[in-house]
Amino acid sequence: MEIQITTRDVQTLSCDALIVGAARAPQNGQEEKGIVLSTTAAAVDKLLDGLLQERAQAGEFQGNLGELLTIHPMGRLAAQRVIVVGTGAQAKLDAQAIRRASAIATRHVQNTGAKQVVLAQGWQIAGIDEALTAQAQVEGALLGAYRFRKYQKSDNNQKSIAQLLLLASEAKKDVYEQALHKGQVLVEATNFARDLINEPPNVLTPTELARRATTMAEQAGLAYEVFDEAKIKELGMGGLLGVTQGSAQPPQFIILRYQGDPQHSDKVLALVGKGITFDTGGISLKPPADMDEMKGDMGGAAAVIGAMQAIAALKPAINVTGLVPTCENMPSGTAFRPGDILRILNGKTIEIVNTDAEGRLILADALSYAEQQGFSPIIDLATLTGGIVVALGHTMTGLFCNDEQLTADIIAAGRTAGEKFWPMPLDDEYGDMIKSEIADIKQTGGRWASSVTAAKILEHFVGNAKWAHLDIAGTSYGDKKSYQEKGGTGVGVRTLTELALSLAQ
Ligand code: BES
Ligand code: ZN
Ligand code: ZN
Repeated sequence: MEIQITTRDVQTLSCDALIVGAARAPQNGQEEKGIVLSTTAAAVDKLLDGLLQERAQAGEFQGNLGELLTIHPMGRLAAQRVIVVGTGAQAKLDAQAIRRASAIATRHVQNTGAKQVVLAQGWQIAGIDEALTAQAQVEGALLGAYRFRKYQKSDNNQKSIAQLLLLASEAKKDVYEQALHKGQVLVEATNFARDLINEPPNVLTPTELARRATTMAEQAGLAYEVFDEAKIKELGMGGLLGVTQGSAQPPQFIILRYQGDPQHSDKVLALVGKGITFDTGGISLKPPADMDEMKGDMGGAAAVIGAMQAIAALKPAINVTGLVPTCENMPSGTAFRPGDILRILNGKTIEIVNTDAEGRLILADALSYAEQQGFSPIIDLATLTGGIVVALGHTMTGLFCNDEQLTADIIAAGRTAGEKFWPMPLDDEYGDMIKSEIADIKQTGGRWASSVTAAKILEHFVGNAKWAHLDIAGTSYGDKKSYQEKGGTGVGVRTLTELALSLAQ
């Protein structure tokens, strides 16, 4: 899909669909059906003699977030149709509302045959940053238009937008160009992560994940290294070796390096991603329902690899290293068992209770490695526990962190990126639940607070480093919604990139 800026006049700009925005007016009792129009929506309203406001007064459109009103201007504008998308209450209008509205409208026009689409949701009102609005429109459109159809006959693949134009004023053209570039980089990386998640697990093996990561690294100009099974054994990554034991696929440990600050140590920010390419549960086999979704158990790895791509393109002045332990969790005659004791890279032993709690084992090795190398802060992302889905659903990512400033930085980066994080506890009392009689720690703490005890296990492997653990089990894989299709969301890519940009300052 081609995407460009246009400064042409809205009346003569020909396209299949022109997307404008409208918010719900502040309700002071009087104007119940009132809407507030974005800059171009107001211009369109004028060209059509007040048709938009009239339809709103008639009750056809209220401006709720994601609500759509289709107008056919019948030649009075060059556009075949105008899509007015609601952005919700005006008082709550922000980049995220515009991003969401843009995704819904773009997805809708794509599904209804539009090839040439103009994005014109700009606002010129106090408190709304035009550059952020422009970026949010681009991000929303590209996120909303995303589809994963490479395994379908091309006949089914016709409905795709050929050209997106972002409407800008001549005066703000440069600002819009920059916003377009940033939004495009962020979403290309997010959609790359989504592709990795959506690939079937027979294709995306640990070896294939390493191949895709290193191909990306070569194109993006990142340094990389991949440890094979022999090297993983030599280093003593007993968690990764234990989990991979039942699989016919060899494990990999992927390292990606970005040097944005060559004058300083490269042992600064480390991003660690859980890369289980398929999680059957192993000997503690999962039930069949929805097991196919466990192809997404490498969502943390995908987020890290995607973020490294975006960071390489946006070039913040900071050194960032991506670390991805990857393998399959399979049941077989060679699989690890409940009762086994594994020794992690840093020497600590873990008593295995349930082979389905495999993510913490491979992360333990990766975190130990990062800590031994001297990285700080270390941020890991993992589809780690069903417990976090119970606690926070599919809306917010659980954030476990041993440093207040880092907690605040991640939440702020998430807000900029349009991703939500909620702080969860690491209180020491939870540590009692993972005490073992025969090993240094027990792998699981039972049913209650299972996402917290999982995080407490990870904490054993980060030493004194500043560390954050993002449990993305609820947010990394989504059902079909008006703004996305079922599958990987790429959560984490944009937040990690924004975090690297902010830490660089
Ligand atoms: N990959 C799963 C967690 C998961 C659940 C991810 C739902 C995405 C959606 C993880 O490996 C797992 O199975 N965790 C178990 C641990 C338990 C056995 C201690 C869980 O949380 O149920
Ligand atoms: Zn599992
Ligand atoms: Zn898992």
